[in-house]
Amino acid sequence: MTMKKIIIGNWKMNPKNLVTAKKDFLDIKKNINEYKNTQVVLASPFVYLKELSKFSSSRLFLGGQNVSFESEGAYTGEVSASMLADCRVSYVIIGHSERRALGETNEQINKKIKLALKSKISPVVCVGESDREHGMWYLGVVKTQLEECLVGISKKLVEEIIIAYEPIWAISTTQNRRDATKEDCQEMRIYIKKILADMFGAKIADKIRIIYGGSVDEKNAKSFLVEGGADGLLPGRASLSVKKFTEIVKIANDCYQK
Ligand code: PGA
Repeated sequence: MTMKKIIIGNWKMNPKNLVTAKKDFLDIKKNINEYKNTQVVLASPFVYLKELSKFSSSRLFLGGQNVSFESEGAYTGEVSASMLADCRVSYVIIGHSERRALGETNEQINKKIKLALKSKISPVVCVGESDREHGMWYLGVVKTQLEECLVGISKKLVEEIIIAYEPIWAISTTQNRRDATKEDCQEMRIYIKKILADMFGAKIADKIRIIYGGSVDEKNAKSFLVEGGADGLLPGRASLSVKKFTEIVKIANDCYQK
């Protein structure tokens, strides 16, 4: 039996207001109801979480897009893992390249992962290189990100983590972006598995899901999931269209074999 694929929509700083967020969340929930063999998550801006939590369920999980690296205290503007848990958040994106670009370090990401796990929230840890211009250099970038972000995490808890490979050069908003291929996805999936196996042992590495993000849409989703070997997808822009996001979930659902 193949594992269920997971589709995590990253709304980023969208939509513009709560009315639209609620409408889109509910429309997606209705549309995906029949696709029971796929796990679906929407990662929403913080301010909408409490209201959306009234409608989240095991059919459509709620996700956060960031979390503080401290558990409480004088950290103006920050939101803690326990606050997210209070909003019924089940997954949280950590270390997204857009946050790393604002100065987030692997050390902070490591602290965030540990706090999310403590609050029983599954971290979706983003890794990925900014370009591929220096030979195999990009493999070393991802290796360092994994080693530093996952240091000190117990073998028992690491299975809760999802690794999202997001090559920055393929993200929709990157200037002069290029398409990543299913081969890029497959190569990095194998490489990440090897790093995880070196850190936690092959048996545990096998259970850690590796998903792909970077201009995923309804046209390329199947190639990343099937030939690319991704356990799921992290669409950004496409998650803002109810129609496109539903289609991606349907494609993931079709990949499931009993
Ligand atoms: P994109 O965003 O699908 O719009 O490229 C993905 C991401 O940055 O998470």
